[in-house]
Amino acid sequence: MNILLLGNGGREHALAWKMAQSPKCTQLFIAPGNAGTSSCGTNIAINPTDFKNIRDFVLKNDIQMVIVGPEAPLVEGIYDYFKNDEQLNSINVVGPSTEGAKLEGSKAYAKKFMADRNIPTAGYQEFTIDNLSEGLDYIKSQTPPIVLKADGLAAGKGVLICQSIEEAQSEFKKMLEGKFGNAGSRVVIEEFLDGIEFSVFVITDGKAYKILPIAKDYKRIGEGDSGLNTGGMGAVSPVPFVDQAIMEKVETRIIKPTIAEIQKRNIEYKGFIFLGLIMVNNDPFVIEYNCRMGDPETEVVIPRLQNDLVEIFQALDNDSLQNINIKIDERAATTIMLVSGGYPEAYEKGKVIRGVSAIEDSIVFHAGTKAEGDQIITNGGRVIAVTSYGQNFREALKTSNKNAQLIDFEGKYYRTDIGFDL
Ligand code: AMP
Ligand code: GLY
Repeated sequence: MNILLLGNGGREHALAWKMAQSPKCTQLFIAPGNAGTSSCGTNIAINPTDFKNIRDFVLKNDIQMVIVGPEAPLVEGIYDYFKNDEQLNSINVVGPSTEGAKLEGSKAYAKKFMADRNIPTAGYQEFTIDNLSEGLDYIKSQTPPIVLKADGLAAGKGVLICQSIEEAQSEFKKMLEGKFGNAGSRVVIEEFLDGIEFSVFVITDGKAYKILPIAKDYKRIGEGDSGLNTGGMGAVSPVPFVDQAIMEKVETRIIKPTIAEIQKRNIEYKGFIFLGLIMVNNDPFVIEYNCRMGDPETEVVIPRLQNDLVEIFQALDNDSLQNINIKIDERAATTIMLVSGGYPEAYEKGKVIRGVSAIEDSIVFHAGTKAEGDQIITNGGRVIAVTSYGQNFREALKTSNKNAQLIDFEGKYYRTDIGFDL
């Protein structure tokens, strides 16, 4: 079978790496991919939201399966685009329909979805410019910290945690006045939850579901979780404090009701659900839904999955996911992200990356990289994820840390304290 994977990050390199191992995979194409994905298949220069060009490519290359890595094409409706096209509708698109992608694409939609099933999440209200003054009054009635969320996709920047009423009111106004463009034309104001976060990944065909390895990512740029938010600086799997009792609560209170609500609403959903969770007094709450895998969590989740990933994806299309037995590597996996100097603010690209080929005991997943002649150069803020296995996360991290030192490019930065809070 010929497969097309959309995206160009570390997540996509990990997915490509895994799918390329499947005997079911004949040809793998990655659009647009990076310098790492080209060792798993063929990169093609198509943007993941350019549906027309994707359509032409899929038809010309007899693609039978399309895996959607990032959220943008899902929220923009790639699943429905395929299903509404006579020539494309038999192709297996891994990812939710446009309606399902609203779980990530609209925070207000997700909050209502959870409220309808009593899925535990922070209390909230939503506002637009039409009830701005009510919003300001609502903020005044709250105790800081106050969480403001732009309703739509805002490149990971749409969540603000405000430490005072004045700050929250001022930011709330800025959001409604266009700070995040259209994404902020509706704002969710949410209760602040205090606790430790972790991520649960579920794959579903809309009826059955399977739970993939649990992970925890580290979003802040600085050691000890300080400084600006990033796409993610590292991850570990499994998460030591997430025991069976917690997972039972997650399954009964969150996963089962989520799948039940998807069914009740007749949402077509054949793909990943990423639950961003937080433990408050030993009870799990949903911080957010995403309609795709996490990055860099994929770089630790997928290496621990022992199944044939292509077979799992086929089962989504055949409605036979219930027959799949998920097998998970007992070992821990960790990843450390090497980033460009200056990230997540302004940074330079085009720095030559050295030392990758000398790494033997880690898996090097490329994120923002590009081949130039016979060199590999930096091409993004997050550059390379160094994934290692170990008997426990500390042992795995030792290897990731050692190899993070060996890969080099001008301005390289990484956190040496991933897992510090575990
Ligand atoms: P998001 O962009 O939705 O991933 O949110 C970014 C981060 O904001 C989350 O990973 C949490 O650390 C934090 N956050 C979001 N909502 C809340 C909340 N209600 N209480 C506390 N922290 C939150
Ligand atoms: N690592 C968080 C995300 O992928 O959204």
